[in-house]
Amino acid sequence: MAQLPLTAIPPDIVSAADYERYAQHYIEAAAWAYLQGGAADELTLAANCESWSSLKLWPRVLSDVAHGHTRCTLFGDALAHPIILAPVATQRLFHPEGEVASVLAAGVMGGVAVVSTQASFTLEDVATQAHGPLWFQLYWQGGRTETLELIKRAEAAGYRALVFTVDAPVSGVRNREQRAAFSVPSSAAQVNVKTLTLPTLAQGMSAVFDGFMSLAPTWDDIEWLIQQTHLPIILKGVLHPKDAKLAVAVGAAGVVVSNHGGRVLDSALATFDVLAGVVSVVDGAVPVLIDGGIRRGTDIVKALALGASAVMIGRPYIHALATAGALGVAHLIRLLREELEISMALTGCKTLDDINVDVLY
Ligand code: FNR
Ligand code: LAC
Repeated sequence: MAQLPLTAIPPDIVSAADYERYAQHYIEAAAWAYLQGGAADELTLAANCESWSSLKLWPRVLSDVAHGHTRCTLFGDALAHPIILAPVATQRLFHPEGEVASVLAAGVMGGVAVVSTQASFTLEDVATQAHGPLWFQLYWQGGRTETLELIKRAEAAGYRALVFTVDAPVSGVRNREQRAAFSVPSSAAQVNVKTLTLPTLAQGMSAVFDGFMSLAPTWDDIEWLIQQTHLPIILKGVLHPKDAKLAVAVGAAGVVVSNHGGRVLDSALATFDVLAGVVSVVDGAVPVLIDGGIRRGTDIVKALALGASAVMIGRPYIHALATAGALGVAHLIRLLREELEISMALTGCKTLDDINVDVLY
């Protein structure tokens, strides 16, 4: 049985890894497997985390970094730091206050959170409770009409950007612990959208090509979508430089280099491995964000040094949420921001703009 979440932060929680260790006691076993898991053999999941540690930083001494800061502006929002809460589905699985607690923490800490299409509170309710800017993560709803309906709701509720996730048209190749797809209990159900009705398959038809993929979006749909809204559209789940180039060409306002936390195509490259290539083809046209395995302030410095404008974190803030609700998430963001500040100071960087390849060995 999972324990009740804490209402104060124990003094021995001083890092994202500590929250991961604690969180196991506050999350039911099946939900834990769903949260932690990746696709198939979890090769990409493992690579995401390992890859950051392979890169080394150059310390710089005696630099004047007094009155430095971590402020940045992204898609028109002025943020205190570049640590964004990635969209994570059905957060009431992990804490009764779910998404409401996460967005509260993000806002209080001067940052932004991305609310999933598959949130367990309505996107309107989450927006009402927010204390800072919110972006809405969009999953294609099988067709243009249904998708547009969702976008109009996000616009009306005051979301400031749309993060269109393009890497998961076929969800979850399940790992060893999830041979059967995990089914979310009704208390944490996705309340914003109906479950997609898949086409009925005749004998010999493919569940992938004739089922899921017959409802999946293509580049034409992205072009169409961009014309339907005044909100910036950021494509999340881009790894290949050719796709990054196409994203810019069709008018995306940004890209997130992501492999969905290793949950979709196993054997896909770690995000770290492709970041420089994506940054190079995007060539400053739009901001490039990244997620996957970011666990330390030093990881954030490395991402920014390779040309990212900001990072997203997924599992780490869910660990903090499960352990201690909004307080935990706010604390985790503070820990990561402090680590970022320390890493900047010790690499001689006063602002985020000062972080470049010179800090990398
Ligand atoms: C996710 N992710 C995700 N992404 C998305 O666009 N929409 C979603 O609803 C979800 N849901 C989701 C649920 C769970 C349990 C996890 C772990 C992840 C992916 C997420 O936004 C992000 O890309 C990764 O989590 C980043 O990797 P790390 O930080 O978890 O290593
Ligand atoms: C996942 C889906 C919800 O990663 O995006 O579980």
